[in-house]
Amino acid sequence: MEKETCTFSYCKQPETTVVETDILLIGGGMGSCGAAYEACKWATPKGIKVTLVDKAAIDRSGAVAMGLSAINTYLGLNVGENTVEDYVRYVRGDLMGIIRDDIVYDVGRHVDDSVYLFDEWGLPIWKQPGEENKKLGEGARAVRSGRWQAMISGESYKVIVAEAAKKALEYNREATGQQQNLFERVFITRLLLDEKEDNRIAGAIGISVRENKVYLFKAKTILNACGGGVNTYRPRSTDEGMGRTWYPVWNSSSTTTMGVQVGAELTLMENVFVPTRFKDGYGPVGTFFLFLKCQATNGLGEGYVQNMDAISKYKPYCDMTPVPTCLRNVQMLEEMRNGKGPIMMQTAEPIQKARAEDKKKAKELEIAAWEDFLDMTIGQAGVWASNNIAPEEKPSEMMPTEPYFIGSHAACSGFWVSGPPDIAPKEWQWGYTRMTTVNGLFTAADGVGASGHKFSSGSFTDGRIAGKSMVAFVLDNMDYTPTLTTTAEDAAKELYLPFEIFEKYKNYTTAADINPNYLRPKQAQARLMKIMDEYAAGVSTWYQTNKPMLELALEKLQFLKEDLSRLAAEDLHELMRCWEMVHRLWTAEAHVRHMLFREETRYPGYYFRADFPELDDENWKCFVNSKYDPKTGKWSLRKVPYIQLVK
Ligand code: FAD
Ligand code: ADX
Repeated sequence: MEKETCTFSYCKQPETTVVETDILLIGGGMGSCGAAYEACKWATPKGIKVTLVDKAAIDRSGAVAMGLSAINTYLGLNVGENTVEDYVRYVRGDLMGIIRDDIVYDVGRHVDDSVYLFDEWGLPIWKQPGEENKKLGEGARAVRSGRWQAMISGESYKVIVAEAAKKALEYNREATGQQQNLFERVFITRLLLDEKEDNRIAGAIGISVRENKVYLFKAKTILNACGGGVNTYRPRSTDEGMGRTWYPVWNSSSTTTMGVQVGAELTLMENVFVPTRFKDGYGPVGTFFLFLKCQATNGLGEGYVQNMDAISKYKPYCDMTPVPTCLRNVQMLEEMRNGKGPIMMQTAEPIQKARAEDKKKAKELEIAAWEDFLDMTIGQAGVWASNNIAPEEKPSEMMPTEPYFIGSHAACSGFWVSGPPDIAPKEWQWGYTRMTTVNGLFTAADGVGASGHKFSSGSFTDGRIAGKSMVAFVLDNMDYTPTLTTTAEDAAKELYLPFEIFEKYKNYTTAADINPNYLRPKQAQARLMKIMDEYAAGVSTWYQTNKPMLELALEKLQFLKEDLSRLAAEDLHELMRCWEMVHRLWTAEAHVRHMLFREETRYPGYYFRADFPELDDENWKCFVNSKYDPKTGKWSLRKVPYIQLVK
């Protein structure tokens, strides 16, 4: 088909705006809020401008939008609860032996300081009886659900964190004389490399999702922190429930794709996350396993968590405490495959037991069960209410979800970044910590690969570390001026093409959805989900794939990529959906390439290579890194040795 271009012959021309700044933070989630808070502190006295742009409104954007009920990474160093080394060992065990020890250590040594800040800013963190009026930083002890998790009443967690970021940005704006340095509801679609200097970041383009406006940002350094990716794989929910997933639907793999397109190197992109969740509402399970200490059983009422035979071949990782998250999935899948479903969380047992001993305690547990969902997954409370489930009476069904991309949970896909200079071995550092392999392009939180289990607190911390490092980068590059030949008008033509296509062809048929000249984003998404689900280890194949399936996936993704040049949008929301699709597709491709390269099953329970079903430490206890070359359009993959820094 003929290549379409936008000349604004059919659709309206948007207003264009050029913004020049020093530090551009893309994303307004936990990572970017941390970066804004820290960068503004160091940048402002030097007159360095900081700008943040988020696709949504930062008060309620990103994975923490709905709130959370626990801070999953808090070490309690000041009260001797854990050591940083313990944390590194825990993360390494859970992620099947391959992590960047340096980065995980770096997060571990700083994360408590961020939790102290949340405490100061008014986040209700549960304290041990008698210590309620003391701050964590003064030695109060948190109420723990598990060893690393601190319980909170966190419905407004993101609002509290965003307030700090906004205040910091405002302080910077006033001091540096910027007109505006917080852009909300602006969706960044693509990063721009410098036209004069090789491999150097210089800018970004994006669309307003509320007004007919296109933006071009120029910056000395950029933080790419747009969270992880969801809706790449077909979700278990269907039809009207489509869009109900565990991971909030607004993180559409922008981080990965935007970095890849400018040539930043990825690591462990084969790793996806398949969390165990309450069925249909996708409610999280941590509080139930750890705080309420519920039993999980198969449909026959038998505890299956004790079934070590199901995972005994995955030595030495099956012997870790706790059993790695992906292997816990294997235990569950074993029951399901053997026809012993449904899998049940026995929520009634601990509450009934407490009732017999201590009625007040029983009530507290019942409240904690509801609050867990009301704080962070309201939909699951809805599932309970609509199914007449009272947790103190009836168990609840669980299931493994469809795969997601997330670098900060019990998963670790992301970019290969420079490590902290005082601990990273020389192979792992090339300048400023958290900088990708593209000069001046940083990432944080979900964007940093091989360092899972950062969670909300660690992601904020990671952002702080990146933010400070970016200030150092700017100070060392004060004379640099970005050179871009792309103008805001060029960007408008590129980004509004789906509008032009829709308007040009919409009257060709009588039904806007059925048209041989274009593809709407929802249709493209259905195609992507089908490919990923059926060929790339989604739920329909019990998370299994093999070489021929992955090769077919790549071929089909290529066809889809060609067709995406014919995406059509009727309104601004759909325009955003179009560019989200582009982001999802490139990330899907990177993932498939990585799975194809790693000839073993490193993360059983997340995905299985049926043709290489074993864990092969001898040949594959290493990182898999990939890089797309923007000049040649070619991908290359390589093995990178794992270096153990913490014994
Ligand atoms: P996010 O916080 O998700 O932020 C991403 C940001 O990027 C958002 O502001 C988004 O609007 C923006 N964005 C996306 N695309 C674009 C674009 N193209 N242009 C501009 N902006 C864009 N941690 C805990 O400690 N406790 C928990 O109980 C817990 N529960 C969780 C539950 C879920 C469902 C998930 C997904 C995560 C949970 N986590 C929890 C982990 C925690 O939420 C993440 O570690 C953290 O939010 C990651 O930070 P981030 O900045 O990478 O991404
Ligand atoms: S949440 O981030 O959406 O809340 P989830 O409820 O699964 O995720 O996990 C919360 C925390 O508890 C995470 O730190 C997770 O690793 C941990 N966790 C969940 N289930 C278990 C379990 N069975 N054993 C040990 N740790 C667990």
